[in-house]
Amino acid sequence: MSNNSLPLENKVAIVTGGSRGIGAGIAETLASRGAKVAITFASESSKDATEQLVKKIKDFGTSADAITIQADLRDIASAKHIVDTTVKAFGPTIHILVNNAGVAYKGISIGDTSIEDYNSVFDVNVRAVFFMGEAVAPHLPNKGGRIINIGSIFGRDCFAQFPLYCASKAAIEGFTRCWAAELGPKGHTVNQVNPGAVETDMLRGGDSSVANVFKDMTPMENRFGQPQDIADVVAFLSDENARWITGQTISASGGLKMY
Ligand SMILES: NC(=O)c1ccc[n+]([C@@H]2O[C@H](COP(=O)([O-])OP(=O)(O)OC[C@H]3O[C@@H](n4cnc5c(N)ncnc54)[C@H](OP(=O)(O)O)[C@@H]3O)[C@@H](O)[C@H]2O)c1
Repeated sequence: MSNNSLPLENKVAIVTGGSRGIGAGIAETLASRGAKVAITFASESSKDATEQLVKKIKDFGTSADAITIQADLRDIASAKHIVDTTVKAFGPTIHILVNNAGVAYKGISIGDTSIEDYNSVFDVNVRAVFFMGEAVAPHLPNKGGRIINIGSIFGRDCFAQFPLYCASKAAIEGFTRCWAAELGPKGHTVNQVNPGAVETDMLRGGDSSVANVFKDMTPMENRFGQPQDIADVVAFLSDENARWITGQTISASGGLKMY
């Protein structure tokens, strides 16, 4: 690496759910460090914002590059489609996978949950994370690959009427640790970042009085997190300097939860 090169120059990354919120922050931050990023989204309404993010990245004028991939992660075929499209654009090696896309919902009382409710959470927050890992694994480099799963502090906490969300984020910690154990001997790291309350559409879609309680309970400046607060942690874990950290779940929550 020359003195002027960026830390993620020549690295290819996939960021799921990179159209807005935390994922958009992660995609832009990885690109600002030189990565070529495949940014996935699902909704037609997010198309313009995702394309604008790609344009912004291309305008960096560095080794960074980006493409958009529209794919609903509820569709079991989406993981292969995302990987095939990334390989076509940037070549056969995928260095970094950030499993960020996720869904929340209004609380559902016990006894009222339908199988559709269950699937709508688990298909995106759990099944898609697993099959993205499966699809990317054969494309990791000889060593130095990175998988980063975005969980939530609620994966290790309780929240009445949100068992599906909490359990989905706990479930992927299992993937994080087992993948770390399997991929470690090959020189790859796998970690999880658990945000606290971050000011995005997901937070705004919930009960603001509850969100404000979390804000007040956050030791660091009693504020909401911003996407950049999470993106900087993900960028660090993506870097060569994080080579000795694997199988970990990091609470990036301003101390709202301390592990
Ligand atoms: N915000 C918080 O306070 C908070 C706290 C803890 C953990 N998290 C986690 O952080 C991650 C990002 O959250 P966020 O707050 O940035 O959420 P957000 O603003 O609601 O954005 C969600 C992202 O996921 C994508 N997505 C949703 N459903 C999808 C599907 N079926 N297929 C493909 N992509 C889909 C969305 O794409 P479209 O734009 O196309 O819809 C969007 O890019 C999630 O895993 C979330 O659980 C968030």
